[in-house]
Amino acid sequence: MKERILVRRAVGDDADTLEQLARTQQISDDKLENSLDELSRNGFITWGQTSDSYRTRADLSDYFLVAQVDQEIIGWVMAYPLEILRDLQSGMSYEDKIVEYFLDQYPLETVFIDQICTIDGMRRCGVATALDEHLRNIGANKSFVTDIIHGPIRNEASNLFFKKIGFIEVAEVPQDQWFLGIYDRRV
Ligand SMILES: CC(C)(COP(=O)(O)OP(=O)(O)OC[C@H]1O[C@@H](n2cnc3c(N)ncnc32)[C@H](O)[C@@H]1OP(=O)(O)O)[C@@H](O)C(=O)NCCC(=O)NCCS
Repeated sequence: MKERILVRRAVGDDADTLEQLARTQQISDDKLENSLDELSRNGFITWGQTSDSYRTRADLSDYFLVAQVDQEIIGWVMAYPLEILRDLQSGMSYEDKIVEYFLDQYPLETVFIDQICTIDGMRRCGVATALDEHLRNIGANKSFVTDIIHGPIRNEASNLFFKKIGFIEVAEVPQDQWFLGIYDRRV
C-alpha cells in the first residue's frame, strides 16, 4: 500500500473534494449522542472547512498536502506557518483562543498542523505518516505545533497518532465548549 501513496501539494481544484470528504468526518450533535467511544477511537474533524476556505489555504501554503492513490484523494494535511495563520485569523470564526496562544508562544515560522485526515477504509495503512514524512522533508529545521481535542470528548486516534510521530503535550487551552491539548515537535 505504502508504495502506491503519492503525496503532493494541494491545489485549488482539490477544494470541493476536500470539503465533501471533511463533511463525512465532521463531529456533530447526532454523532456525539450516539457513539462517543467510536468517535474517540476513530477520530473526527471539529472544524471542517468550506471549499473556499480550503482553496485559500491551498493557494497560500506549501504545507497543505494531499495523499492520493491513483487519482483518488485518500488523505490530507492542512498546515501553514503561524505567519499565514496570523494573516488568516481575521477571517476565521474558530480557534481564536488557540491562535492567540500560538502567536504568543511560538516564532512565526513554526508550522501549525490545523487538520489531518485519512478517509475511512484507508486508516492504519501509513497514509498520515506519509503526509507527515513529506512535511518533515519540506519543513526540515522547522518546529511544528498542533491542537487536539481533549474534551468534552477526547480525540484518541489523533492523540496516539501525533505521539507516535514525535509530538509532546505542552498545554491545554479552552476554546468555546472545547478543551484543546497543545502539542509540539520542536527542532
Ligand atoms: C488520526 C488519523 C489522521 C490517523 O491517520 P492514519 O492514516 O490512520 O495513520 P497511520 O496509519 O499513519 O498511523 C501511524 C501510527 O499512529 C498511531 N495511530 C493512528 N491511528 C490510531 C488509532 N485510531 N488508534 C491508535 N493508534 C493510532 C499508530 O501507532 C499507528 O501505527 P500502527 O498502525 O503501525 O499501529 C486518522 O485516524 C483520521 O483521519 N481520523 C479522523 C480525523 C481526525 O481525527 N483527524 C485529527 C484531527 S484534525
